[in-house]
Amino acid sequence: MSITQHEKQTLIDLANTARQQAYAPYSNYAVGSALRTKTGRIFTGVNVENAAYPHTMCAERVAIFKAVSEGEKEFEAIAVATDTGGSPCGGCRQVMAEFGLDTLILIANGQGELLKEMTVKELLPEAFTPGHLK
Ligand code: THU
Repeated sequence: MSITQHEKQTLIDLANTARQQAYAPYSNYAVGSALRTKTGRIFTGVNVENAAYPHTMCAERVAIFKAVSEGEKEFEAIAVATDTGGSPCGGCRQVMAEFGLDTLILIANGQGELLKEMTVKELLPEAFTPGHLK
């Protein structure tokens, strides 16, 4: 299954809408994410910060964990939206890699523009994956 341009834009728009719920009182860097599973379901996420800073959780991981907790582990694409079009952090790349290296990552800005598009494999080359534990 592949994703259409219209579906990509929908994911980006959902990520930006979700972003309004970001809880980022410390960094003021609101992040929104929208994940499309291979079954066509969509899960959104936002960053959730904490006064004890290291306990903050990124938007991408919130979306992925929501999906996994609802039985979805195969992903088509994940959109990440910030004001300026920031890239997913290393921890989020690793969590994405756990569930597939071919998932498409859509990096967008607050205007809903798609700035960059690549696979997890491209964003995290030589990833450590479940296969390495066998
Ligand atoms: N953040 C994300 O939500 N995703 C990323 O990939 C990068 C960083 C959040 C964490 C923190 O709340 C804020 O952005 C600043 O680092």
